[in-house]
Amino acid sequence: METTINGTKLVLKIGDITEEDTQAIVNAANSTLMGGGGVDGAIHSKGGPAILEECKKIRQTTYPDGLPTGEAVITTGGNLKAEYVIHTVGPVCHGRFTENHEKLLYNAYYNSLKVAKENGIKTVAFPSISTGAYRCPLDLSARTAMMAVIDFIKNENYITEVRFVLFTDSIYYYYEEALKEILNEA
Ligand code: APR
Repeated sequence: METTINGTKLVLKIGDITEEDTQAIVNAANSTLMGGGGVDGAIHSKGGPAILEECKKIRQTTYPDGLPTGEAVITTGGNLKAEYVIHTVGPVCHGRFTENHEKLLYNAYYNSLKVAKENGIKTVAFPSISTGAYRCPLDLSARTAMMAVIDFIKNENYITEVRFVLFTDSIYYYYEEALKEILNEA
């Protein structure tokens, strides 16, 4: 599914985010920035050690206690097609979705686009943050993700394309429904 809002192309697709050729791809990291499984594991294993090296530098300087939930940082994309990886940490929901979870997940998407703009990046791909190991409910997470991205697009006409790269058709379904709902409300 594709649409254009305030001059920014918004694309939903099924795929492996490590294959994306946007300038930046967003990593669903944890606060240690030392890697993990899921998207994090795929990005580090395909992107190579240069990514982890820059994550270590970030931990030694800007975020010695770890990247707080909802914040975002940028590193090289290493061997990936994407030039950059924007690492963000979503909330751990354990199947619930409180107002705080919603706010933190919103911030993770919004701040990732802020970091993209600060670095002159115009095309960004997102995974479905916090809906895997962090067990945030897909329907509410997809809506929050869409709200954050569309708010940023409306507030700042800078980014030219945002993609949501969803690992399976069932995950895609939730993002498609969320986008349709928001477009119908507009
Ligand atoms: N491309 C796109 N989406 C992917 C990929 C991939 N290569 N691999 C997994 N996904 C999807 C999952 O299916 C899920 O929908 O990304 C979504 C997020 O799942 P996780 O990667 O588990 O991320 P999250 O729920 O945010 O948990 C983060 O898991 O991997 C660890 O280090 C990470 O501790 C952190 C936690």
